[in-house]
Amino acid sequence: TPTNVLQQFQLQGKVAVVTGAADGIGLSVAEAFAEAGAHVALWYNSNEAAVEQSVRIAEENGIKTAAFKVDVSDSSQVQKNIIKVLDTFGKIDIFVANAGMGISEPILEQSLEVYRKQMSVNVDGVVFCAKFAGQVFQKQGFGNLIITSSMSGHIVNVPVDQPVYNATKAFVTHFGKCLAREWREFARVNIVSPGFFDTKMGAGDSNINEVYRMSALGRQGHVKEVKGLYLFLASDASSYMTGSDVIIDGGYVL
Ligand code: NAI
Repeated sequence: TPTNVLQQFQLQGKVAVVTGAADGIGLSVAEAFAEAGAHVALWYNSNEAAVEQSVRIAEENGIKTAAFKVDVSDSSQVQKNIIKVLDTFGKIDIFVANAGMGISEPILEQSLEVYRKQMSVNVDGVVFCAKFAGQVFQKQGFGNLIITSSMSGHIVNVPVDQPVYNATKAFVTHFGKCLAREWREFARVNIVSPGFFDTKMGAGDSNINEVYRMSALGRQGHVKEVKGLYLFLASDASSYMTGSDVIIDGGYVL
């Protein structure tokens, strides 16, 4: 680890995978890592145009980037694409399990099908990514997993009833903490719990402006405002952190 603090934030020579990289938080994280010098594997499931544009911009700046179409709720696709990333880049230093979906529905109205879909993306998706990335980390003897959870994993989010979404986030937060212990000899694992951000998922309810005002900063977060935190967790600047769950919510959960 370099002693100069700014050098600790550099990602030159590192390879990062980001899931859900076509939109919102994932796209912002992929940009942050590329700006810090990492080679980035962008995993996306839809919005191919956005991913292609990111690849172009990164390449213009001399960063090696590649896009992979992966449905994270399908374990065989996850496993195959981990191998494809290794074939392309040779190793994985950082894996950000960020893809997710938010279905806001009371449980009394939720169909079994919708319930299963929510669980398959937010829970299975993170478990599959962690499992196959973790096998690589173990073999390499190093690795860094960051899981995008939510402040909804800590609190019963008030604007809408979404018990299953909230509980998927409680699952991945606790799962990440358990992995920090399980993988202690070869990898760090940390969790990011965002509050309200201005992504597709964060756009929404009619009373939402009232809700934003309930945070200490009194506003929604801009998606670029996650970049510094993810870079910190991905880099040597956070070398003594593992199993931490960092809330970034403008002071909502206080
Ligand atoms: P977004 O909807 O802009 O992006 C989500 C991404 O996940 C999309 O690119 C989508 O294609 C991808 N995705 C969905 N299902 C997938 C699947 N089966 N396989 C692969 N990719 C899939 O939303 P946002 O806000 O950027 O969400 C990113 C993460 O942040 C999610 O895990 C979300 O739960 C979490 N989050 C977001 C908050 C917000 O206010 N925007 C608040 C707290 C957490």
